[in-house]
Amino acid sequence: MAIPRENPHFLGLIVLSLLAIASAEVLFEERFEDGWENQWVKSDWKKDENMAGEWNYTSGKWNGDHNDKGIQTSEDHRFYAISAEFPEFSNKDKTLVFQFSVKHEQKLDCGGGYMKLLSGEVDQKKFGGDTPYSIMFGPDICGYSTKKVHAILTHSGSNHLIKKDVPCETDQLTHVYTFILRPDATYSILIDNVEKQSGSLFTDWDILPPKKIKDPEAKKPEDWDDKEYIPDPEDKKPEGYDDIPKEIPDSDAKKPEDWDDEEDGEWTAPTIANPEYKGPWEPKKIKNPNYKGKWKTPMIDNPDFKDDPDIYVYPKLKYVGIELWQVKSGTMFDNVLVCDDPEYAKKLAEETWGKHKDAEKAAFDEAEKKKEEEEAKDDPLDSDEEKEDNEDDDAEGDDADSETKSDTDKDDDDDDIHDEL
Ligand SMILES: *[C@@H]1O[C@H](CO)[C@@H](O)[C@H](O)[C@H]1NC(C)=O
Repeated sequence: MAIPRENPHFLGLIVLSLLAIASAEVLFEERFEDGWENQWVKSDWKKDENMAGEWNYTSGKWNGDHNDKGIQTSEDHRFYAISAEFPEFSNKDKTLVFQFSVKHEQKLDCGGGYMKLLSGEVDQKKFGGDTPYSIMFGPDICGYSTKKVHAILTHSGSNHLIKKDVPCETDQLTHVYTFILRPDATYSILIDNVEKQSGSLFTDWDILPPKKIKDPEAKKPEDWDDKEYIPDPEDKKPEGYDDIPKEIPDSDAKKPEDWDDEEDGEWTAPTIANPEYKGPWEPKKIKNPNYKGKWKTPMIDNPDFKDDPDIYVYPKLKYVGIELWQVKSGTMFDNVLVCDDPEYAKKLAEETWGKHKDAEKAAFDEAEKKKEEEEAKDDPLDSDEEKEDNEDDDAEGDDADSETKSDTDKDDDDDDIHDEL
C-alpha cells in the first residue's frame, strides 16, 4: 500500500479508519448478489394451502442500478417466509444494529415491510407466522390507520410493542430502516440515516412491570377537604327574589279583533319568559379556606418489579427472517445487515441507498410519465386536464379501498396482524 510518508496526519487518518472498520463485527450482511440463494431458506409455510408467494430476484421496475438486485414479493394475496442463518451472537455489552432497505413498488395499501431476528434453533423450512422471534422491526402499512414502524421486542415469551408512534415512509421508493439497541438499554430508530425516534427500553416499552405503583392500601383521609370552592356563607338571598315570576304576560300581545268574549271566554295575553328571572337563588361561590388540594394516592415501590439491567440482551441471535402477508405484492428487500457498529451500518446505507437514490427517483419519475402517456394513448379523447382529474379519482378510489381493508385490521394491534387474514 502506498502511504505518503511525508504526511503523518494522513497516515493517522488511514490507520484510524482501518481500526474503525476492523472493530465492527458484522454478523450478517446480504446485498443479494449472485449466490444469495445458498444463504437463504425458503420456508414451506402455507405451501400446502397454495398460499405461499414466490420471491422475484430483481432490481425492480425502477432503480438506480440495474445490477443491484434484491428480493421482491411477486404474487398478490400471499404469505412470504424466508430466512438466513448467521453465527450465533449475544448482544450483551454490545450494540446491536439491525438494518435493511425496503421499497414498495406497488402502491401498498395493506402489507408489511418488516423483518425479524430469531434466536436459538429454528427449523427454517417451517419458519412462519407462529415461529417465535426476538425482534421484529420495520414498516407496516394498512389503510389509513396503520402507517408505522414496528419495533417489537420479545421478553420472557411475550411480544412488546413500542409505545411511541414512529411513522414510516409511504412512497414507492427505497428506504433504509435501522434499529440500534445499546448496552445501556437505549435505542434509536433511523430511516434513511436520520434518527426518527430514540429513548429507553425501560420507558418506551412495557417490558418490565412498573417500578412504582399506587399504594393499594392508601385511603383518602375522612377529613380531607378537596372542595376548591364552597358557597359563600355570607351571601344572602336578596329580598323579594323568590317573588320574581318565571314568566310574564306578553305586553306586546293584542287581543285579536275577532275575539268574542262571550264565545271565546275572557282574553288573556300569552306569557313570555321574564328577563328578570334568574333561576333559583344560589349563594355565590368562594375559595374554600380549608382546601387541601386534590388527594393523590401515594406511590410505593412495586413488589412485583424486578429490575433487569439485561433487558436489552438477546443471548442467542441466529437468524434473520422475512415473514409477511401481502395483499398487493411488490415489496422489495435489500442490503440486510446485522452488526454491532452504527457507523458501519451508516456507511453501508450511504454506499447503497445513498448512492442510488437520486437515479432511482429519476427512473421512478420516468416510469410514472410513461404510464401516464400509455393511459393517455388508451383514451386519446381525453384532454390533459381531464386526464389529471381521472388520476385524482383513481387515487381516491385506492384510498377508499385501503380504508375498507384497514377496518378489518385496525383492531389487531398485535405483531402477527396480517397472519389472521
Ligand atoms: C420480476 O421483476 C421484473 C422487474 O420488475 C419483472 O419484469 C418480472 O415480470 C418479475 N417476474 C415475476 C415472476 O414476477
